[in-house]
Amino acid sequence: MRFDTIITNGTVVHANKTEKADVGIVGEKIAAVGKGLAKKARGKGKNNGDGPRIIDAKGHYVIPGGVDVHVHLALPFCGTTSSDDYNTGTRAAARGGVTTLIDFAIPYGEESLQQAVDNWHAKADGKACIDYTFHVAVTKWNQHKHQMADMVKKGFPTFKQFMIYEREGWQADDAAIFGALEKCRELDAMLLIHAESSRVLDELIARHHNEEEMKRLGARLHAVTRPNFIEAEAIQRAVTWAEVTGGRLYVVHMSTAEGTEIIRAAHKRGLENVFAETCAQYLVLDDSLFDGPDGHLYGCCPQIKKKPDQKRLWRGLRDDTVCAVSTDTCTFTREQKAMWQGDWTKIPMGMPGLETLLPIVYTHGVLKDRLSVNEFVDKCCTAPARIMGLGDRKGQINKGYDADIAIIHPKKKIKVDHAQMETNADWSPYQGWNLAGFSRTTLSRGKVIVDDYKFCGQNGWGKWLPRETAGRM
Ligand code: URP
Ligand code: ZN
Ligand code: ZN
Repeated sequence: MRFDTIITNGTVVHANKTEKADVGIVGEKIAAVGKGLAKKARGKGKNNGDGPRIIDAKGHYVIPGGVDVHVHLALPFCGTTSSDDYNTGTRAAARGGVTTLIDFAIPYGEESLQQAVDNWHAKADGKACIDYTFHVAVTKWNQHKHQMADMVKKGFPTFKQFMIYEREGWQADDAAIFGALEKCRELDAMLLIHAESSRVLDELIARHHNEEEMKRLGARLHAVTRPNFIEAEAIQRAVTWAEVTGGRLYVVHMSTAEGTEIIRAAHKRGLENVFAETCAQYLVLDDSLFDGPDGHLYGCCPQIKKKPDQKRLWRGLRDDTVCAVSTDTCTFTREQKAMWQGDWTKIPMGMPGLETLLPIVYTHGVLKDRLSVNEFVDKCCTAPARIMGLGDRKGQINKGYDADIAIIHPKKKIKVDHAQMETNADWSPYQGWNLAGFSRTTLSRGKVIVDDYKFCGQNGWGKWLPRETAGRM
């Protein structure tokens, strides 16, 4: 067989095994994984220049490109628009070894689901450097429930509801969530839920929203007003609706030990229709950051929690309670974050993350013995692709799969410096951290888009990915 590209001398890491093997690529697809492919090709080509491109991965892991299923690019939110768009956001992803992302198409005002999807296509078309698709947010249940079947037919089998964000016009109540889960069961689709207990949260915010406390506690009030039960109660409620409807539920950005226990208990009861992800920031950052002078930069919803929560989430990844690690990338610059002016309820909520997802999970997971390298690949690449309905083409290094690959050094560390990064942020939650797991070489459908740690891809290369179903195991 003639290959266009061969990755040789590397250690290929799968979710369930590790092997010394070459990876042969023809066009956009992986055509073979096996020993000696480069040797055979060299024999045939006699180095006359028309042989395959050889990528030497000696001393490196060859892993499937990361699949980040929770991303917000160019999102109008909190009175501004998130600063990473499909240009900088997907470049950042590529540099971090992420080759597929899923954003959220959110209708504004009276927009239909189709209008939301059209708006998000317009943001991505001609700009994205990696492949992408969207979850579709159901924000006006009474209108949107009639439009969900059409969305599934058009390749969007994942929907999103938010229990909070009334001010944004995105909030879904219990009846809407219950109805959406029923609908998802009927349509072979899945519902993603932002689970926080809205009314009690509003009450706690109102109690602390005064000049004296804001002056004294600043960004710490973000944590004070969101005790862990705010997330736990909401997750419990969503799980109950999933249990009684049979609809597939995916809890996004789970941040608490209590939430993890609820998901664990659901799995123990035999509920196979309940999934939960966490995000890199909940695994490594804690709420002591709110006490620093830049505390407001770390504002995101749900907020970063405490060390025992991190510990339980890591364990949840190990025992499969937590099925994936994503980023919830929603980048805001320092200038945008400064809009808070001392009032934590005005912080543009979210952080950059795409460029550091794999390095954070690799360094703090694999190198600290919290995850095996195979579990790392499973949670960042293979499982998210499978759960989101991309399991036949993304997230694996196997024959027939898209040639989306990241080549990472097992030990070499790079100091995080936002000034050297692709993300459009003038700060990083991980500034100065030494991280291994940055991608030396990233391939997207066979094309090298990062070489020697530098982006060399092309705007518009990324394609939209239609999907048929989601949440089937
Ligand atoms: O703070 C966050 N997470 N911003 C994005 C919106 C959301 O809730 O995911
Ligand atoms: Zn959310
Ligand atoms: Zn989000």
